Amino acid sequence: EKGGYDHFMLKEIYEQPRALRDTLKGRISHTRDKVVLDEIKMTAKEIKNIKRIVITACGTAYHAGLVGKYVIEQMVRIPVEVDIASEFRYRDPLIDKETLVVVVSQSGETADTLAALREARRRGARVVAITNVIASSVAREADDIIYTWAGPEISVASTKAYTTQLVAIYLLALFLAQERKTMAAGNIKEILDELKALYSKVQEVLDNDQPIKEFAEKYCRHEDAFFLGRGLDYAVALEGSLKLKEISYIHAEAYAAGELKHGTLALIVENIPVIALATQQSLFEKMVSNIKEVKARDASVIAVAMQGHTEVEKVADQVIYIPKTHPVLAPIITVIPLQLLAYYMAVNRGCDVDKPRNLAKSVTVE
Ligand code: M6R
Repeated sequence: EKGGYDHFMLKEIYEQPRALRDTLKGRISHTRDKVVLDEIKMTAKEIKNIKRIVITACGTAYHAGLVGKYVIEQMVRIPVEVDIASEFRYRDPLIDKETLVVVVSQSGETADTLAALREARRRGARVVAITNVIASSVAREADDIIYTWAGPEISVASTKAYTTQLVAIYLLALFLAQERKTMAAGNIKEILDELKALYSKVQEVLDNDQPIKEFAEKYCRHEDAFFLGRGLDYAVALEGSLKLKEISYIHAEAYAAGELKHGTLALIVENIPVIALATQQSLFEKMVSNIKEVKARDASVIAVAMQGHTEVEKVADQVIYIPKTHPVLAPIITVIPLQLLAYYMAVNRGCDVDKPRNLAKSVTVE
């Protein structure tokens, strides 16, 4: 049932090209320039009246939501807040009829996420659910559902659910941009074309796992690791860090690279593994300076950058190049080496990869 893989997690990591393709299927017009989201039943007027968007979720789904904030704000120019569901539900949240609430949940059964959904609806908000499980509680109670077609995810560590949640979020953002006319048709088409090209790029990264295996072998005995990034890379850093701590039990922290000087730099000592994400062109130079800062403290840096950005080789110890894509879509590719890194670190440490201690696949109680 593991399809020849040692663990479900690895199988699910390798299923991502298929899962991404299935999640996109039927959601791009035949003319290739429009998003088709018939599952969103909002009227044009309702879409026009949205004043705020709140995304709420737990764990990895929350990290997908963080990507959503950057993407939706950029494409739709509506303010977006992202809130952890267990915080949102008890915070007496500011929600009204002009707020669109997006809940993200692989299982659709997470207690806090479901409670957040109910709270939002009680306050009159319309709720869009992004979920992987047909007829799950979240799906049944939301106003609109965008299903991800990841297929069953068995491993506790979420991988293909995250990348397909990102696809759903991109589609929702592009759909809102299309309906509210906040993006030129040509730009929407450009991103849709890139979205379709993603699965083969993800496959390319999966086929190039050797440097990650080597890094994992070299650094698996460390007890601390840091993930740095700016903008969308920061959101992905948080996900990479969660993955590593969850399955390898290495203490990992993600930092917005600009925050280094405000505290974290005190923890950077000789040989500490730092995973620096530098895929965002507009922030590239800033990331290069941050890498220099940690290198000056003798950290061991593995950087993730887009092909062509070879300047990073001069500052990092090792570079994983990801195929070029539109910067806004980079998270789907950038997270792949981080998933593999967490996986191989955990395997080298002899951890129970698919069933990490103390954790359950679906958190149906508080
Ligand atoms: O089923 P959900 O998406 O609602 O689950 C949310 C989190 O419990 C989940 O993403 C968790 O953080 C994963 N174990 C992370 O790999």
